[in-house]
Parts: sequence; C-alpha cells; structure tokens
Amino acid sequence: MLDVQGLEAGYGHSQVLFDVNLRIGAGEVVTLLGRNGMGKTTTVRALMGLNRPRGGKVTFQSAPIAGLPPEAIARLGVGLVPEGRQIFPTLTVRENLVATASNRLGRRDPWTLERVVTLFPRLGERQSQLARTLSGGEQQMLAIGRALMTNPLLLILDEATEGLAPVIRAEIWATLTRLKAEGQSILLIDKTLSALKRLGDRHYVLEKGRTVWSGDAAAFEREAEQVRALIGV
Ligand SMILES: Nc1ncnc2c1ncn2[C@@H]1O[C@H](COP(=O)(O)OP(=O)(O)OP(=O)(O)O)[C@@H](O)[C@H]1O
Ligand SMILES: [Mg+2]
Repeated sequence: MLDVQGLEAGYGHSQVLFDVNLRIGAGEVVTLLGRNGMGKTTTVRALMGLNRPRGGKVTFQSAPIAGLPPEAIARLGVGLVPEGRQIFPTLTVRENLVATASNRLGRRDPWTLERVVTLFPRLGERQSQLARTLSGGEQQMLAIGRALMTNPLLLILDEATEGLAPVIRAEIWATLTRLKAEGQSILLIDKTLSALKRLGDRHYVLEKGRTVWSGDAAAFEREAEQVRALIGV
C-alpha cells in the first residue's frame, strides 16, 4: 500500500531526514519509533506532502506521490491524526467531523457521523459544543473521528495517546484494536511500547533521520533490548 524508499526532507537549510525506508501492506498496523527529534513527525509530514520531500521515493497504491500537494495525497486515501491534534477550535464537534468528510473511494460501509459517534459516544454528547472546549482526550477522539470520516485507506496517527489520561489512553488503544480488526491499515506513532507491541504487525525505528531498525512482531520481541536502547526506554 505504502512504500517509502530513501526519503529525505528538512526545513530550510537543515536536513532532518536522510534515509527513511518503510512499507505498509493492506490491513497492517506498522509502528514508527524513535526518541524525540529523530524525525517521526517530519516523516509523516513528508508523506502527507506537508513538507516537500527532497529525495527518495514514496509510492502509495502503486502511484508515486512524493511532491504532490497535501490535498491530492489526502484524496488518494491517506488520513492523518496530526501531532497536537489540530482540530478546528472555533468549529463545533459536528462541524469538525463533517468539514473534511468524504467517501471518494466509494468505500462500502463508509464512516459517517452516526458511526463515529457510536465509536466515540462522548463526541455524540458534545456535537454542538465548540471543539476548543473539549478535554484533551475528547479532542484526540475528535481528531481520529475527523480522519476516519475521510474514509482513508491508510490512517496515520502521530502521537496517538501523548499527554492523555490513562483511562483515555486505554479507550484510544481499544479503538485502534477495533479498527485493526476491521482491516484498517494504520501507521502508528506513540511511545507506549506495550501497546505498540500488542497492535503492531511490523515496526520501524528512526535515529537521526534514518531507519536503523525494522522487523516484524517476532523480531521486535526477540531484539527488544536493542530496540529499547535505540528508543531510549
Ligand atoms: N518546523 C521546523 N523547523 C525547523 N526544524 C524543525 C521543524 N520541525 C522539526 N524540526 C527539527 O527536525 C528534527 C526532527 O523533528 P521531528 O518533529 O520530526 O521529530 P519527532 O521524531 O517527531 O520528535 P517527537 O518525538 O518529539 O515528536 C528535530 O531536530 C527538530 O528540531
Ligand atoms: Mg513528533
């Protein structure tokens, strides 16, 4: 589904990504790990076209997408739950959910407002509330709901549970487990190793803008010590 080879990107004069390589197959949950500042968000931004790749190849559903504008990449079926959530603060919950909603790819049984509020009942109760008045956890649910309503083939979560209370984290992990069971392809960034281990089919570790380790669930378990050293936990 997604194939990234030798991805390079940066900001102004500073290069941040030097050689990022990763692959996501249909229905897979793939995690991207690395200490702070190693380039995870920059990788996501480059994949989404929010930051123009400077080198390497990005292929989505067999089409080259490096250099396309973010709207075009979103239209092809990539949905993002960005770091820091970035919901529309002055719109209501419902307006946030429908603002970018679509089912361009004609998915059967698409995500709708009804399905999203069934998934996250708290959002249902707060549909006419301004998004900026939601708690952090509710804002993250809103960001996930908003991304789902674009009916993405690939859902990317950058810091899925960062800064959230344990009970909300548990709810997000349960939701992602459900999405995985439904066959949703997911690229997952988070620092909760135990949850990543449970959910991930394959894992990648970034260090200073390079993919320095990759492996499936069994390798992740077997080489846990090496992985822990690389990600500093
Ligand atoms: N807008 C920007 N302008 C300049 N440099 C940036 C910008 N955003 C990030 N960087 C730099 O790029 C590097 C990688 O940052 P990035 O946000 O991709 O890391 P990350 O792995 O997502 O970290 P974290 O775990 O803290 O979210 C860091 O050195 C950071 O300072
Ligand atoms: Mg980040």
